[in-house]
Amino acid sequence: MAVPADDRSDESPVPPAGRAASSVTEALCTRRSVRAFLPTPLARELVEDLLATASRSPSNSNTQPWRVHVVAGEPKRRLAEDLWESLDAGQRAAQPGYPYQPGPDEWAEPYRTRRAAFGDQLYRRTLGVQPGDGEGRDRHHRRNYEFFGAPVGMILTTSAHPLAGALVDAGLFLQALMLTAREYGLDTCPQASFIDFHPVLRRHLDISDDEIVICGLALGYADREHPLGDLATPRESVARFATFHGDLT
Ligand SMILES: Cc1cc2nc3c(=O)[nH]c(=O)nc-3n(C[C@H](O)[C@H](O)[C@H](O)COP(=O)(O)O)c2cc1C
Repeated sequence: MAVPADDRSDESPVPPAGRAASSVTEALCTRRSVRAFLPTPLARELVEDLLATASRSPSNSNTQPWRVHVVAGEPKRRLAEDLWESLDAGQRAAQPGYPYQPGPDEWAEPYRTRRAAFGDQLYRRTLGVQPGDGEGRDRHHRRNYEFFGAPVGMILTTSAHPLAGALVDAGLFLQALMLTAREYGLDTCPQASFIDFHPVLRRHLDISDDEIVICGLALGYADREHPLGDLATPRESVARFATFHGDLT
């Protein structure tokens, strides 16, 4: 069943994302999936600090199944070229490695409605790409593979043994990484688009068959002048997703 618009918490105040976050709450409320970055380069030491902090995430019996492949400069450019070539040739992998999402027509409610609302926000209202303009959508989609212009790209993988638990653990690591980035005034975009082309990633980054490609992550300073540099999305109200059993004071 579609969620009535009245029940959404679209109006909840979201602080602007520009400056660095100084609390977890601020990091959470100012994190956006940023799709327009400045080319400002990042120091390796800074990226290593971010990764070290994110690795404080919990995992099953402290197994820490995540792995990160960091790309910048020439290797990042060459990777994008190859990904675009595969995209243009329609060479998506037959199996994505893990089932991140159903096919476009297979989404159940209320997710179908929420996904459509997000598509409308991103394409029509922000980019002016009208429904049915496949070329316009493709033009934007392509930019995923150059990490939306971010100076640093990451490919997050996890151990395939056992996969389900490792996916949860790696998801916690991903969130920690995105929140820590906000503390440095940096922004991110998680990108499942990469998993369609995991054979290309395996070739470029020497990823073994024992690793599953979870997603990409763009990392850099947001271009706040660009409409895709600070796109705030709504959330459902707590009453829509939480059920309380028993009395709380
Ligand atoms: C695992 C994961 C994969 C995603 N993949 C993509 C992607 O490939 N391209 C993209 O533009 N956004 C991607 N997103 C971003 C979502 O669209 C975004 O999180 C959602 O619309 C909510 O917006 P927000 O992150 O700005 O709060 C992904 C998000 C997650 C968590």
